[in-house]
Amino acid sequence: MVDSTPWWREAVFYQIYPRSFADSDGDGVGDLAGIRAHLDDLVWLGIDALWLSPFYRSPMVDFGYDVSDYCDVDPLFGTLEDFDSLIADAHAAGLKVIVDWVPNHTSDRHPWFVDAVSGPDSAHRSWYVWRDATPDGSPPNNWVAAFDLSAPAWTLDERSGQWYLHLFEEGQPDLDWDEGGVVSAMHDVLRFWLDRGVDGFRADVIHCIGKDPALPDDPPEVAGIPHSALNDVPVTHQRLRDIRSLVDAYPGDRVVVGEVYLLSTEAVATYYGDGDELHLAFNFPPLYARWEAEAWRQCIDATVGALDPRGAWPTWVLSNHDNPRHRTRYDRTAARLGEDAGTTAVRSEARARAAAVLLMTLRGTPFVYQGEELGLLDAAIPPGRAVDPGGRDGCRAPLPWDGSSDHGWPVAGGAGPWLPFPPDAESRNYAALRRDPASILHLYRRLLSLRRDEPALRHGRFELLDTPAGVLGYARTVGARRCEVLVNFTAEAVALDHHSTGLPSPAGAGMTVSLSSDGRDQGAAFGGTLGADQAVVLRH
Ligand code: NOJ
Repeated sequence: MVDSTPWWREAVFYQIYPRSFADSDGDGVGDLAGIRAHLDDLVWLGIDALWLSPFYRSPMVDFGYDVSDYCDVDPLFGTLEDFDSLIADAHAAGLKVIVDWVPNHTSDRHPWFVDAVSGPDSAHRSWYVWRDATPDGSPPNNWVAAFDLSAPAWTLDERSGQWYLHLFEEGQPDLDWDEGGVVSAMHDVLRFWLDRGVDGFRADVIHCIGKDPALPDDPPEVAGIPHSALNDVPVTHQRLRDIRSLVDAYPGDRVVVGEVYLLSTEAVATYYGDGDELHLAFNFPPLYARWEAEAWRQCIDATVGALDPRGAWPTWVLSNHDNPRHRTRYDRTAARLGEDAGTTAVRSEARARAAAVLLMTLRGTPFVYQGEELGLLDAAIPPGRAVDPGGRDGCRAPLPWDGSSDHGWPVAGGAGPWLPFPPDAESRNYAALRRDPASILHLYRRLLSLRRDEPALRHGRFELLDTPAGVLGYARTVGARRCEVLVNFTAEAVALDHHSTGLPSPAGAGMTVSLSSDGRDQGAAFGGTLGADQAVVLRH
């Protein structure tokens, strides 16, 4: 039988934030050649696919999410030839590569906007969203931009007296997708990268490419939430179907993973259409979930409830470049519980390890954010070194590659890289953790290898198990193969005896520990007790 499962349903993706991954030329900013030099490390880890955050020409107001040329590499990151070499090497190493596509807005320095702002009669004026000034001088509606919640999503162009819309920074004007020229130009961008061999796209705030043409005020009860998190209109779905047809016409199961940053999983699920819109959409609630069994159970229920009826395939993500790293978030949980700092450091790593087990064993496609395999915390950013308008510098700190004083980022004159390193980089760096078989890095590697080995984890059915409070358990089954995954979210050991579950045979009974988040008891019969913050994968 020919296997028709598309690769992206079973792959593990690894998000690279190019500025902070690896620097090949000593300017303190990561680049494409730096990524290329470390492909072997990602292959060693067992990653299947890379997602590259933007590396296009950009004034870097939003660190690349403000694009001034969609079809060229910013000199900071290298050249198109560097990109071609990277993709050729990645493919030769068996890695797929998807790239970020930023279709909702351009930079204000993009030639289209430079032309648009030159006057109301310019050729590209209608490519952006303009509105006349109101009599009282207030913005055209009450929409709020992201990042600065006190700022309107509009900037007045003094020259013409009209306002332009920007759901993000002032330097990121929104394109008007009602304009045919915009649609064909952005489709051409897709073709440009597909023709260069990319395996797909991560589509930035893709739910925003359609807007209600009346641009009505947001209702008062949600006014104050950035409009980008509320924008959900029918016309976007037709636009996504067109994008899907374009991408699907290429061979090799290319994929579009959408960032649909809406507040409900039900709403996000509609962007899969009837299997004719996004191939995948990010599932963000787990990225905000507290380290509590009930919180995760709710995320899982909501995901299964919204996606299963549509035959839509879920994704799982713990961290990305827009949010505090999950180990940092779990540290905060610990602080809330009143733990002391030393205990917290140990516990937050234990939680991050157990979370990695969830990420790799839930039903769906996992996305790893660079550095989570090292158990990194966010960097502390001293005043004066903050650079991001959205306050996201901490999770974007450079990856420490080794224990030397520059951690593999030799910058001329001893100046460090563009942001400070994360805490404990002398010991928590790639080289040190690779030498230590008990490290979180090796746990990720073991998890990826188990997943690769075990069809039940890649595409098996999913069923929640009856477990005591504070423990989440589920089975993954395919044919006669069965795995059970048990995760203890509490700071105490929990026994899964029949008294606590009320069942004649508790979860995990008679099974063997294939993997445990702390490395204990692997290969042994499951004894029925989970350690504090411990996760296990059991098989027969
Ligand atoms: C979502 C991206 O992940 C974020 O980094 C960016 O600031 C906004 N979209 C705007 O492009």
